[in-house]
Amino acid sequence: MQSSSDKAYEIITNKLKNTHKKRYEHILGVCEMAEYLAKIKGVDVTKAKTAALMHDYSKYDDINDAKKYLSEEDQKECEKYPFLYHAYLSAYWYKKLIGDDIDIYNAIRYHVFGRPNMSDLEEIIMISDYTEKNRTYDSCIECRKLILDGKINLAIYKSLMYTIDIVLKNHEEPHPKQVMVFNYYKEKVEEEMIDKVVDALKKVRCEDIIVYDMKEKSPFYDTMVVASVSSERQASSFIGYLEDLENDGLQIRRIEGLNTSWVLVDCNSIVVSVFTKEERSHFEIEKLYIDIPKRLIQED
Ligand SMILES: [Fe+2]
Ligand SMILES: [Fe+2]
Repeated sequence: MQSSSDKAYEIITNKLKNTHKKRYEHILGVCEMAEYLAKIKGVDVTKAKTAALMHDYSKYDDINDAKKYLSEEDQKECEKYPFLYHAYLSAYWYKKLIGDDIDIYNAIRYHVFGRPNMSDLEEIIMISDYTEKNRTYDSCIECRKLILDGKINLAIYKSLMYTIDIVLKNHEEPHPKQVMVFNYYKEKVEEEMIDKVVDALKKVRCEDIIVYDMKEKSPFYDTMVVASVSSERQASSFIGYLEDLENDGLQIRRIEGLNTSWVLVDCNSIVVSVFTKEERSHFEIEKLYIDIPKRLIQED
């Protein structure tokens, strides 16, 4: 029996190969990237290929004629955001022509900017669309590199940041769901980053590490990481490890108090303060921040 991905390949080849060569090549590029990522994430490769091959099926359909296949609610949404037509219609045609796998259907339907809590397959199709090898914009190349480095959440976060940026530069309003997804991945990436910052501090034997959630308290940053060391020399030794995290997206804006008893590193939304034990007890940070929620730190 013909597999769903073979069927999708046949359908898309017949529909686009001779009429829209560039789009056809893009689709094959998405398929290649989706297959690569599916293998890494342990997702069914046939499903990933099927969704990838069908994701832009309706790109050139006559919307006036085709929108009758969409629910009233979808039609209303697409009228306001016409770039969604092709995704919703492609999902419809997947169901009509190939099968009823809900994960494949959703991966096609939400491929333009995703949604919070996406399945692995949904994430794969969305980010493969942005990073496949035929995409030559700098932002796509940057995200492709992140993917090949295994930093998939960071790639998704950045791809959303760049696409929202383009929307704003065109003086248009981003879709509210797109902003929601962006914030969802921003938080995910930040959570991962906080873990990495804590690991960097542990590498230089920092003690009594506390992560404060400052979202409600400060308009300037979201997280304050506090740690203690035994000596001033030790207080600066974590800087190198933090600088390594710049490859993972950490933005170090300013370092203060290098080689003193209080080193402060401003990393935009995360601020790291490393004190000598004496200095920390002098400031009585714990008392000062008594009402601020703490984030649980994994014990080694
Ligand atoms: Fe698309
Ligand atoms: Fe696409």
